Amino acid sequence: MELTEVLARRRSTRRFKPLPIPEADLEKLLFALQRAPTDASAQLYSVIRVQDPTLRDQVARLSGDQEHIRQAAEFFVFLADVHRLERLLAHRGERMARWPRTALHFAILDAGIAASYLALTAEALGYGVCFIGGVLNGIEALIPLLELPPGVLPVVGLAVGVPDEEGPPRPRLPRRLVVHQDRYRPYREEDLEAGFQAMAPYSRVGDWGRVLRRYFAQGGTMEEREGPYGRAVSRQGFDPDLPPGAAFYSLGGLLAEALGEARGVLFRPGEAWLEREAEAFRGEGSPGEALLQALAKARGEVRDWP
Ligand SMILES: Cc1cc2nc3c(=O)[nH]c(=O)nc-3n(C[C@H](O)[C@H](O)[C@H](O)COP(=O)(O)O)c2cc1C
Repeated sequence: MELTEVLARRRSTRRFKPLPIPEADLEKLLFALQRAPTDASAQLYSVIRVQDPTLRDQVARLSGDQEHIRQAAEFFVFLADVHRLERLLAHRGERMARWPRTALHFAILDAGIAASYLALTAEALGYGVCFIGGVLNGIEALIPLLELPPGVLPVVGLAVGVPDEEGPPRPRLPRRLVVHQDRYRPYREEDLEAGFQAMAPYSRVGDWGRVLRRYFAQGGTMEEREGPYGRAVSRQGFDPDLPPGAAFYSLGGLLAEALGEARGVLFRPGEAWLEREAEAFRGEGSPGEALLQALAKARGEVRDWP
């Protein structure tokens, strides 16, 4: 099939036949994955092919209990990965620079592009695919389950298999709302209304607004993901203000928690003090490191005096 024909017909598949993907096709998928371009040739991604049925079930449970994760012939978890790069540099005696934000940006991009190459190749071969952002739902449990070291973060899952459903392609926003010419064009109310009209068939009841509300409005599912995702990002070492392993949403989050247990927090260059009524606990280092240490001492998690 021509590529444009594949694109015109494609839709996410959420029902799969219980049929395997032959080795020869799997080889094509993994070949496509690795042909993807990556930033500066660094290939800041990895992928875990989840074959073990028990593990697959655990991953499904942590990802919103989506049955198609269990059903699919193959399930991949795409990872942003700067751990391997750090190891490669160390192998040649170099220390990796500190660039957590940019690292996360390019590693997520590399993982996403590689996943798309695999997905599109699968669709061109006649398989159905479904990306699974649901891997973020239980990300804090998924990291130890998959034994991910610091520098590695789940980005998205991908279910691939022989489709057991058919249907028309799903709608998209009018192109003029998505593609700007030369400069970003502000949206008028009628543009937005046209967007809802075009997307209406997406929803069974003809109201795309309901879908957007469920995910993105206040109280929606994205809001629920934000805390666990932020903690996972910092635990895996992608927060510039917190050391790897510190599972706080942000330095502000750590500060709020520390202030909940103290009368005050004092920062000086290279140190932080957490003050209670009759005692004070000191930590050393950058503001994030120092406050973490002081908080651990205040909680009795580490001894204050040698
Ligand atoms: C990053 C990403 C995350 C997604 N997460 C899920 C998911 O967790 N579960 C699911 O059933 N579909 C998921 N999807 C599929 C989208 O819902 C789907 O692509 C979108 O509704 C458009 O439909 P179409 O792919 O059939 O055109 C995801 C897609 C992307 C790109």
